[in-house]
Amino acid sequence: MHKSVLLEEAIEYLNLKDNSIIVDCTLGYGGHSSEILKQIPNGHLYSFDQDSEAIDYSKDRLSKIADNYTIIKSNFVNIKEELRKKGIDKVDGILYDLGVSSPQLDEDYRGFSFHKDAKLDMRMNRQQDLSAYNVVNEYSIDKLTDVIFKYGEERFARNISKAIVNSRPINTTLELVEVIKSAVPMKYKKDHHPARKTFQAIRIEVNNELEVFKKSLIDALSLLNKDGRICVITFHSLEDKICKEIFKSVSTIRDELKNMPIIPKEFEPKFKVVKVLSPKTDEIKDNKRARSAKLRVIKRIG
Ligand SMILES: C[S@@+](CC[C@H](N)C(=O)[O-])C[C@H]1O[C@@H](n2cnc3c(N)ncnc32)[C@H](O)[C@@H]1O
Repeated sequence: MHKSVLLEEAIEYLNLKDNSIIVDCTLGYGGHSSEILKQIPNGHLYSFDQDSEAIDYSKDRLSKIADNYTIIKSNFVNIKEELRKKGIDKVDGILYDLGVSSPQLDEDYRGFSFHKDAKLDMRMNRQQDLSAYNVVNEYSIDKLTDVIFKYGEERFARNISKAIVNSRPINTTLELVEVIKSAVPMKYKKDHHPARKTFQAIRIEVNNELEVFKKSLIDALSLLNKDGRICVITFHSLEDKICKEIFKSVSTIRDELKNMPIIPKEFEPKFKVVKVLSPKTDEIKDNKRARSAKLRVIKRIG
C-alpha cells in the first residue's frame, strides 16, 4: 500500500477551515485527500489524478468519509479549465504530492521499477500514446542523451544512449537494466543502482512531468483566495528547483524595483513563502520514499 509522505505537515500547513475549498492535484491512493475531507465538513474537495486505478481505489476510500468531494480524472495541467467547468475560479488550498505512488511502482505491469521485469511502459495515464517503449526504441541518440542527462542528471548519459541504440529493440525493463549496466563503469555500480537515474529520466520524459508541473503551479497560484495556500511535496531536485524558483519569483520584489524609495502597491509581492521542510528522521526510517522529499508552502497575502 502507499504510505503518504509528509501527511501531518501538509495538512497542518494547508490551514484548513471547516468550509475550505481545497484541490488535491495528486489524489493517488487518497492518503492526503482523506485527511483533508475529514477537516472540511462544510467545504469541498476537488481531487485530480490521471490514473484510473488510483481513482477507482480512492473513490471507495473517500466515500466512506463524506460526500463533499469531486474526483476529476485529468492531468493536473488542466487544473484551471477543469475547475472552471465546475464553476470554480477561486480556492483556499492546493496540494501537490508529486511523482508516482507505491502501487504504481510495485505493479510489475506498469513498468516503472528497475527491480521487476515488465514491458517498457511508465505511463501514469494508460490512455496516452507515448510510452517508455517509444522513448527507448525510437528516440535518436542525441535526443536520448539529452533526456537522460537533463532529467536523470546522469553523467554517463551518452554511453548509456549509445548502448541503448546498439541493443534495439529493447522490450522489457530488465533488458534495459542489463544494457545500462553494460554501459557504466564497474565502480559506478557499487554506489547506487546504475539504472536509477536513467529510469527516472525516462519516466519524466514519458509523462512530461516537469513541463506539466510548471504550467500547473503557475495556474494554481492564480486560483488562490487571499490567505489561501499551496503545499508542494517534491521528490527530486528538478521538481524542487521549479517549485523554489516559481515561489521565489512571486514572493520577492523584482530586482529593478528594489532601490525605489517607495514600492508602488501593484509591484508588492502578492505571495509569501511560509515554510520549507523535510521529513523527520523517524518518517525517513519508516518510509524509504520520504528520503528525498521536501515540502514547500506558499500563501497569498495580497
Ligand atoms: C505520490 S502519489 C500521491 C499519493 C497521495 N497523496 C496519497 O497520499 O495517497 C502521486 C499521484 O499523482 C498522480 N499524478 C502525478 N502526476 C500527475 C499529473 N500531472 N496529473 C494528474 N495526476 C498526476 C499519479 O498518478 C499518482 O497517483
